[in-house]
Amino acid sequence: METVTTVAALRERLAASRRAGKRIGLVPTMGYLHEGHLSLVRESVAECDVTVVSIFVNPTQFGANEDLSSYPRDPDRDLDLCREAGVDLVFMPDVGEIYPEGFQTYVEPGPLAEPLCGAFRPGHFRGVATVVAKLFNMVQPDKAFFGRKDFQQVAVVRRMARDLDMPLEVVTVDTVREQDGVAMSSRNAYLAADERERARCISRGLFAARAAFEKGERRAGPLLELVRAPLSAMDSVQYLEIVDAGTLEAVAGDIDRPVAICVAGYIGKTRLIDNIVLDPA
Ligand code: PAJ
Repeated sequence: METVTTVAALRERLAASRRAGKRIGLVPTMGYLHEGHLSLVRESVAECDVTVVSIFVNPTQFGANEDLSSYPRDPDRDLDLCREAGVDLVFMPDVGEIYPEGFQTYVEPGPLAEPLCGAFRPGHFRGVATVVAKLFNMVQPDKAFFGRKDFQQVAVVRRMARDLDMPLEVVTVDTVREQDGVAMSSRNAYLAADERERARCISRGLFAARAAFEKGERRAGPLLELVRAPLSAMDSVQYLEIVDAGTLEAVAGDIDRPVAICVAGYIGKTRLIDNIVLDPA
């Protein structure tokens, strides 16, 4: 495994692979890797000849009062995990490499970025779309791998790739959970023991809704109530919504197409998100 920190070295290292006709897979991350990230890596290793992991805590997707400076970091451990998982190349740039002096051009996503997290994190998806577009241009992967845990992020990235004719396939991977159901997240590291215990309420509610859906409940209202009840263990809920899985528009009444139930909120100072997809087909 090789590690590079500059775009020039990244391009140089990948040029030979591309000339040799190798399929290149990209897994963009912000590091502090866990099994969720590694499941994306494994998918890339299985589907591609060369797997590139980027580790970059992207400042443009954090709001002024968010956790950019405290975001957990452990590059040595990340590199060990990448090596064990069969990664070929790790790209670990510093902020100046991605946003040099004078940087001023951004990718502005459309309405898919407005509801849910977009409503509570203004500019977040503009930052995500911009850095992902830059990574796509730097690596020029055949496939890029994203987790369904960040449901809206996947929707925004897919749309961007289509709208801007980016020649790659966006592949999505299921949410990886801890044994007790809590979705894996680098931010779980912030949780104190009692908070970690309370974090279970999110998946508990989502799983209750899924069980009811599987038994035939199709009404959005009662399904939302099943999620809402356990969420009282959170300190605040930003949103709990059933949205069309394609457009992310709110769904009321009966569920007659694929939807996602999406949750975001705080436990203590830690913001957590989760979702499940329900498909009546
Ligand atoms: P990060 O939060 O590090 O996540 C990197 C990738 O791992 C994302 O595609 C995310 O959806 C996926 N992931 C995180 N937790 C997961 C889990 N429990 N199961 C499955 N996949 C999971 O998302 C970002 O970084 C950034 O926004 C990024 C796309 C790198 C742009 O900066």
